[in-house]
Amino acid sequence: MPETAFINGRFLPLADATVSVEDRGFQFGDGIYEVIRTYGGRPFKLESHLARLERSAQAIGLRQPYTRERWAQYILEGLRLAAFPEAKIYLQVTRGAAPRDHAYAQELEPTVVMTVRDLRPPNPTVQAAGVQAMTMEDIRWGRCDIKSVNLLANVLARQQATRAGVFEAILIREGRVTEGSVSNVMVVHNGILVTAPEGAHILSGVTRGIVLDLARQEGISVQERYCSRQELMEAAEVFLTGTTVEVLGVVRIDGQPIGSGAPGPVTRSLAKRFHEQTG
Ligand code: PDD
Repeated sequence: MPETAFINGRFLPLADATVSVEDRGFQFGDGIYEVIRTYGGRPFKLESHLARLERSAQAIGLRQPYTRERWAQYILEGLRLAAFPEAKIYLQVTRGAAPRDHAYAQELEPTVVMTVRDLRPPNPTVQAAGVQAMTMEDIRWGRCDIKSVNLLANVLARQQATRAGVFEAILIREGRVTEGSVSNVMVVHNGILVTAPEGAHILSGVTRGIVLDLARQEGISVQERYCSRQELMEAAEVFLTGTTVEVLGVVRIDGQPIGSGAPGPVTRSLAKRFHEQTG
């Protein structure tokens, strides 16, 4: 079975997987998710992703269907069935299916979905050259720390970026750089690594946490604080972190070059250290 899906305890080919049209994830975006990738065929930082899934579930009052051990078993089984060299695992838990009503009954059975697809690793040429980004108003809701399937604002931002021919939308809320539409944003200023603090306005990225630890180990000062658009534009280096982007230099924002116009030494060094971790 190549592209594999899992629905409420049952594995099946992705093309055959369906859920109810009355699923609250479909009708209200009432659900949470995680994206995990493998390195060497093994899920990377599985514990951290499952811990965040638990935090997201708790934040929206959703009963977690499985223990971490059970999740891990299902994920390993999915990887075995799909048998891709490297895979992207998507987990989604929604409040379940019920006649449409904003309020929900406590006893609803959550809908649990997993998909396992072939992973195309980031293009090394793009990684080496860096990418372009554009800034945009952050119009998302006030709980971006919850990894909710409500991604409309992220979808619109990334689409606008794609239409403009750039890779990522860097979001700015009330003058403060929060994060990207699919990644966290880091800025190097006077040798200091600056990134938005954990809290309601960003997703606490698993990759963000790893990269901040690596930076501290390398003796780089880290400041978890917001920076302004001006600081972003005047930075020596800007890079993105995330499961799908890894550590990715941003070399141009809103058409203007950042620093030297190529991924800088801090970005390259942290990308190298990150790849040492992933094997
Ligand atoms: N996105 N911020 C946002 C808004 C994200 O959607 C993501 C990841 C991140 C990075 O988090 P992590 O390092 O834990 O992957 C930050 C996933 C990959 C997605 O929605 O596809």
